[in-house]
Amino acid sequence: MSRYQAALLGLGLLLMLLLYVGLPGPPEQTFQLWRGPSVTVLAGLTRGNPQIFYREVLPIQPAHRAQVLFLHGKAFNSHTWEQLGTLQLLSKRGYRAVAIDLPAPSKEASTEAGRAELLKQVLRDLEVQNAVLVSPSMSGSYALPFLMRSHHQLRGFVPIAPTSTRNFTQEQFWAVKTPTLILYGELDHTLARESLQQLHHLPNHSVVKLHNAGHACYLHNPEAFHLALLEFLDHLP
Ligand SMILES: *[C@@H]1O[C@H](CO)[C@@H](O)[C@H](O)[C@H]1NC(C)=O
Ligand SMILES: *[C@@H]1O[C@H](CO)[C@@H](O)[C@H](O)[C@H]1NC(C)=O
Repeated sequence: MSRYQAALLGLGLLLMLLLYVGLPGPPEQTFQLWRGPSVTVLAGLTRGNPQIFYREVLPIQPAHRAQVLFLHGKAFNSHTWEQLGTLQLLSKRGYRAVAIDLPAPSKEASTEAGRAELLKQVLRDLEVQNAVLVSPSMSGSYALPFLMRSHHQLRGFVPIAPTSTRNFTQEQFWAVKTPTLILYGELDHTLARESLQQLHHLPNHSVVKLHNAGHACYLHNPEAFHLALLEFLDHLP
């Protein structure tokens, strides 16, 4: 190799190194939505594909007691849990509370396996372990396939009149030992009843019926909803 070639090679290597070091990293995934006197709401996009928007409230206490992931019904999104004060309340009690926006219809989300995988990815991306999964209404089409496949990853399950319960057998429900709190509104005469019939087969469940509340019972009776949820979370093993 001539001196000229060696110099060129050296220059090439130096350029590569500069490019490697100088290139911007992946975009910042997290931004602050707002900071109040006692809470900070963080939001961002998960790394997975499709990327999923999430928001969480930083806990005041340093150690998490448990991590709680909120899904949402068809007419709602992650903001619902912030507006209702649920994320802030849980955070004040020392829980890590994260809410996500379920993705728009896509090929990945068109099958049960795909939706279960998507939730798995969200938990991985957000480093949520031993989560308690809260699943109202339409989000059952994500939560139930996930529960059947990956209940060992859950510390608790809180179905709120979810869809999709009919897609699974009694035996499949029996096999899920996850502590479960079944919540529903007393005025919800359709999905609540249909799902209750099936969810009853989960071996370790308790049921709380929220008074004067319809299908979106957490909106109609937030006090009773928060009370029941905290009571369940506070007593998880
Ligand atoms: C339930 O099962 C039916 C038929 O097996 C399927 O077409 C449908 O997509 C499933 N629904 C959900 C929400 O998973
Ligand atoms: C059932 O769930 C409760 C929490 O709701 C828990 O304390 C208890 O240990 C669980 N029982 C079994 C047998 O897993």
